[in-house]
Amino acid sequence: GGKMYDEQFRPQLHFSPKEKWMNDPNGMVYYKGEYHLFYQYYPHDTVWGPMHWGHAISKDLIHWEELPVALYPDELGQIFSGSAVIDQQNTSGLKTTDEDVMVAIFTHHGEDHEKQSIAYSNDKGRTWTKYKGNPVIDNPGLKDFRDPKVFWHEDSQKWIMSLACGDHIQFYASPNLLEWDYLSEFGRDYGNHGGVWECPDLIQLAVEGTNETKWVLIVSVNPGGPNGGSAVQYFVGDFNGTTFTCLDDMNRVKWADYGRDFYAAVSWSHSTEPIWIGWMNNWQYANTVPTHPGRGAMSIPRKLYLRKKNENLVLVQVPIDLKSLQKNTHLATATLPIKPDQPFQMQLHDSQVMIEAKLEKIAGSSFAFTLKGEHERIEMVFDREKREFSIDRTNSGQLSFSEHFSTVDIMPIETVEDFMIILDRTSIEVFFNQGEHVMTELIFPTERAFTLELEAINGEVHLSDMLICSLESIWK
Ligand code: FRU
Repeated sequence: GGKMYDEQFRPQLHFSPKEKWMNDPNGMVYYKGEYHLFYQYYPHDTVWGPMHWGHAISKDLIHWEELPVALYPDELGQIFSGSAVIDQQNTSGLKTTDEDVMVAIFTHHGEDHEKQSIAYSNDKGRTWTKYKGNPVIDNPGLKDFRDPKVFWHEDSQKWIMSLACGDHIQFYASPNLLEWDYLSEFGRDYGNHGGVWECPDLIQLAVEGTNETKWVLIVSVNPGGPNGGSAVQYFVGDFNGTTFTCLDDMNRVKWADYGRDFYAAVSWSHSTEPIWIGWMNNWQYANTVPTHPGRGAMSIPRKLYLRKKNENLVLVQVPIDLKSLQKNTHLATATLPIKPDQPFQMQLHDSQVMIEAKLEKIAGSSFAFTLKGEHERIEMVFDREKREFSIDRTNSGQLSFSEHFSTVDIMPIETVEDFMIILDRTSIEVFFNQGEHVMTELIFPTERAFTLELEAINGEVHLSDMLICSLESIWK
């Protein structure tokens, strides 16, 4: 047979299940050297269907091993999104072996009736038992009542759950993961309400260069994204064990990623530093992307912290280190001047490539990165006058699977100091200014050979510390 994980549109740097449908990342938890990634999974088709939790593990967040399906639908409903924790103190009393008990907290989605349930594993996440007393939080009369994300809150010595409730987030507390008390709600008057709120996460992040931390509430919204469809917003504030208080201006919407393909992102529980991963897709076309024999891929995992910008705290995302995958480094020059009308060009030999550089000088108004095939091209432009960066995928390959896919997507950005681009067979992730501005987009080029072209527009651009290198496939 042919090589595994080498189909035309199979991501080579990103996790995707061997076959069938995947959406949100779920239950990410670190335990004894293993990063667990569960995910919304339908094992019988390549479109969304009755939800299960698929399962994969990794030692380095780069290479993944797919394990058997962890959770199956049952008489209480489908297994919608949720989280997992290690109950180190056995507060739940569900521990039965020498291993710490791993507890998954998820939504049981019945016929228009969502409630929260738990399941537990005493063998490092390999086999799961649903709790007999499910649901642990019944539906209070809300149509949307889902995606529980739980963490241990040291100060109050309690488990805290964030829950998506249509147009707001509710918080609950528990001493034992079994009995939950309602605490408070947040969000009816904040953020973007173009669609339903989903997949919350409340995390404590360090403020770069200080000893301070702040609480960040992550909320996915669909639709309502800055370029249409699904996207992730966040709120910076304080959490006192009961209430989340937002410190941002009430009318300000903060987007984690301006691309069209980063959704339902939440963080790992019990990892030594905050890391999250998102579903690299958009509900506008997720069910029709032209991949086979599966549909759905995750983003590169990204480390998280906050950066102070004037009086504003901004979420920063830095992709996990991919150095171990580097092969034939093409270039690492001191300074590369690029003059208008003399674009820098380089033939790319692999579909998975990393491109980084610092910008010493931008004399002109703009610069462009273009991936040029024979007929297909992906154009990315920083326009200094408009103060925006755009990704044009209107000629990027396959487009016809959805009327929503052929777009030029835009991110506001004042200046560019540096960039890192992670290019895979079906995606582009762009990180500007040390992870401060991020854009994730899917592409489906049918050609394999591309030339990278860097072009200065209306004045010189000087690049330094440039690195362009091919990366090994993670499936090798
Ligand atoms: C987000 C979401 C969640 C839900 C899951 C169902 O993409 O709609 O709110 O739990 O997907 O698969």
